[in-house]
Amino acid sequence: MSLIEKIQITTSSKNYTVGLYTDFRELAEEIRKVPNVSSLFIFTERGLSGLFQKYYKPVISSLGLKVHEIFIKGGEKNKHIRKTPEIYNELIKLGADRKSLILAMGGGVVGDFSGFIASTFLRGIRFAQVPTTLLACVDSSVGGKVAVNADLGKNMIGSFFQPEFVYAPLNSLSTLPRREWRCGMSEILKHSLLEGGEYLEKVRAGSIDVYNYESAVLHDFVADSIRFKAKIVSQDETETGLRKILNFGHTTAHAIESLTKYKKYSHGEAVAIGLLTATILSVEKQGLDPSWIGNLKEIDKNYDLPYQDKSKSREVAEHMLHDKKNVGNSIRFVLLKSPGEPVWDIPVEQQEIISAFRRQKNL
Ligand code: GLY
Repeated sequence: MSLIEKIQITTSSKNYTVGLYTDFRELAEEIRKVPNVSSLFIFTERGLSGLFQKYYKPVISSLGLKVHEIFIKGGEKNKHIRKTPEIYNELIKLGADRKSLILAMGGGVVGDFSGFIASTFLRGIRFAQVPTTLLACVDSSVGGKVAVNADLGKNMIGSFFQPEFVYAPLNSLSTLPRREWRCGMSEILKHSLLEGGEYLEKVRAGSIDVYNYESAVLHDFVADSIRFKAKIVSQDETETGLRKILNFGHTTAHAIESLTKYKKYSHGEAVAIGLLTATILSVEKQGLDPSWIGNLKEIDKNYDLPYQDKSKSREVAEHMLHDKKNVGNSIRFVLLKSPGEPVWDIPVEQQEIISAFRRQKNL
């Protein structure tokens, strides 16, 4: 067994596929399809390399290419512009050229960082994503957002730079800690609320039993999520309009991540809390059926996701003013008129955020 499903991404800059596979077996075939590759640079974390070497080494060596591994440190604090010069120098020393291919093997940090390096080295060389976390499979590896952090903000330096292909080997999820499952699940939940219909009903009916890389239900969620994201980025690659909906829940998430100094929550856990804040605001400002507040709380509980935070409501609202997606002093939200019917760029007053967050604390 290997290929489960392939999903086509069509953007104005590039067309490519996202393949879901049970394992690494068909990775060499995907690399062979990239024309005239001179050498391969695997960007990964040292620990991951140890875990997965037995899977990917034999596959990669069958290509007969010169292969180098470049180790990058995990964690958001290492996805920083200050970490880039040493990597550019290493690529130069190892003889990387315009026909080299970078393979980003890991979670969102590895994907964003490697993609950023690929987009800038020699004015851009080709790269491919091999996501090994649930969050990277369903979100960060798809759609070509690549970035590094600056001292004063997350993902402040980057671009839209699409990969040659995405190869998601789901057996890499076999070693995923519980927290990482939650992290990916909240992005699946986000996509399902934005899509509505059957997909949302499937997610509503599920539970933490899907936190298993062999689960057919999980495979279905991952495929649904990628199909949904493919549909959105194919219509709006560079987030001029529609793609903004993918930031649903993120305004609050960024504020509480920053207020808790990136220590209390993983990104996905913060997103889960943010989805509920946005749902409360959607009920109050867009006429979303109020039963969705309770429904979402139940879904969060079923997947072991947090749904409230103790931060001071006023501080959360003040922090939101720093969000890079704001225009001037107005705080913009993605909200839902109903599941499957999102609206974006909705201005929300600080006082409205404060009362929504207070309401959420008391659920
Ligand atoms: N993660 C949001 C986006 O790719 O647009």
